Parts: sequence; structure tokens; C-alpha cells
Amino acid sequence: MKLIVFISGNGSNLQSIINNGIKIDGVVSSNPNAYGIIRARKANIPIMEMDEIGNPDLIVLAGYMKILSKEFVEKYNIINIHPSLLPKYKGLNTHQRALNDSKHGMTIHKVVEELDSGEIIFQNSIKVYDFDDEESLKNRVLELEHKWLPVVIKQLIKEIENDRY
Ligand code: GRF
Repeated sequence: MKLIVFISGNGSNLQSIINNGIKIDGVVSSNPNAYGIIRARKANIPIMEMDEIGNPDLIVLAGYMKILSKEFVEKYNIINIHPSLLPKYKGLNTHQRALNDSKHGMTIHKVVEELDSGEIIFQNSIKVYDFDDEESLKNRVLELEHKWLPVVIKQLIKEIENDRY
């Protein structure tokens, strides 16, 4: 089982995968200054360029902010974590846009060429209160992300390994 995680920034979701004891074979960052690179180094995970990943069984986009090419998306098994209840609020600034809703949350989905549009694997929601602002929503959604992304990855790893043997 070979797992690669793609990041662009803080890497708190990468950290939650590491903390849950999931073996990560490499981290790709679209940003050379991403704090997530330091987290990967501390966990002894190799930092890779995109053309060095070989043949992973699963790629996890965890705060990866770059659009992937059609060829790349069609070649690999890729999932993404997105901070909204898709199909609501694709793209950026999801928390701000959800402030007037009664519910907000997170989605883990398969990656297809069209942005934030692949098959939904998992969703979980929070209530939006009158006192919420962008920051409070972001923090509560991140808590959900950190809790559920490792759970979903573990499940997918199980399925991939079962398919193989
Ligand atoms: C998360 O909210 C993720 O859903 C979104 O970008 C944020 C990344 O946070 N795609 P981090 O880099 O994992 O801390």
C-alpha cells in the first residue's frame, strides 16, 4: 500500500493522518514554504516532486490548492477534503458563504477533472449559530476534518488491501 499526501499550506490535516498512525510514503507540496513540509520532515516522510511519486494506490489532497491536469486525475486514485457540504460552496471562501445557512460541514470526495465535483465518500455537518463568524466555522469544520479524514483513509486502505488479496 502506497499513500501520498498533497498539501499547500499549514498541513493540519496531514498532521492528523500522521497522528493516527497511517503510513505515508511521501508528501508533495505545491508551496515550498508550506508549514506542512516541516510536519512531514518531523515525521520522517520524504518530500517529493509530483513526477517522483511512482505508482501510489491512493493520493489524498489535504489542503492542496492547485488544479490537477486531466491526465493526472485520470491516472490515479485521488480523494480530496473540502470544507463545505458539497455540492454547496465549491471553490474558496466556503465558511464565509455558509454563514447564513443553518448547517455547514465537510466533504471527502473522489477527485475528477471538474473542481470539487467527484463522487461523495463521506460528509459530516455542524450547526451554524447566530454568533458564528468565518473563523469559528473554520475552526469547527477543521475539527471535523481532523477527526474524519483519518477514519476514511483507513477504510479506503482496508478496501484497497482486500481487493488485492
Ligand atoms: C482544509 O479546510 C481543507 O478542507 C481545505 O483546506 C484546508 C487545509 O487545512 N481544502 P490544512 O492545510 O490541512 O491545515
